[in-house]
Amino acid sequence: MTGVSLSVNGQPVVGGVDPSQTLLELLREQLGLNGTHAGCDTAQCGACTVVVNGLAQKSCNVLVRQLEGASVRSIEDLAAPDGTLHPMQQAFGQHHALQCGYCTPGMVMRAVAMADEDVPAEPEAVRHALCGNLCRCTGYGGIVTAVCQGLRQMRAAPERLA
Ligand code: FES
Ligand code: FES
Repeated sequence: MTGVSLSVNGQPVVGGVDPSQTLLELLREQLGLNGTHAGCDTAQCGACTVVVNGLAQKSCNVLVRQLEGASVRSIEDLAAPDGTLHPMQQAFGQHHALQCGYCTPGMVMRAVAMADEDVPAEPEAVRHALCGNLCRCTGYGGIVTAVCQGLRQMRAAPERLA
């Protein structure tokens, strides 16, 4: 355990962290943030996607030692304190963009990061941006529709990005 200083969901990570563990391990095993899912563990499926310094990252493929000073955002940070879901989460529900839900946290975090990447809220652009996130059970049509709607709503109410 050594001192890598980072924040997760706006809170500094206190106590020692193991710089050789992955960000996914830190989130799930040390911080108890189990909303981030482990799928392939080989940077292929995207189930473990979180946002690091504003960019979508596959947390199974990031070592804690790479995160000095980083700001990490996981799915647990999206809903408002009163439980109101983030517009992207609402859009996934409205468009039936999930079945088992295993891929969903990674899909949603990838989608939230698209807002800062200026990905157009258009199906072709969203499909391209989602190419690193796999879903084994839902047709991608609903997911793409949901992401387009979520992006439009985030851009209409940018305070929800905070
Ligand atoms: S678990 Fe990280 S990409 Fe699959
Ligand atoms: S909803 Fe089941 S893997 Fe995507």
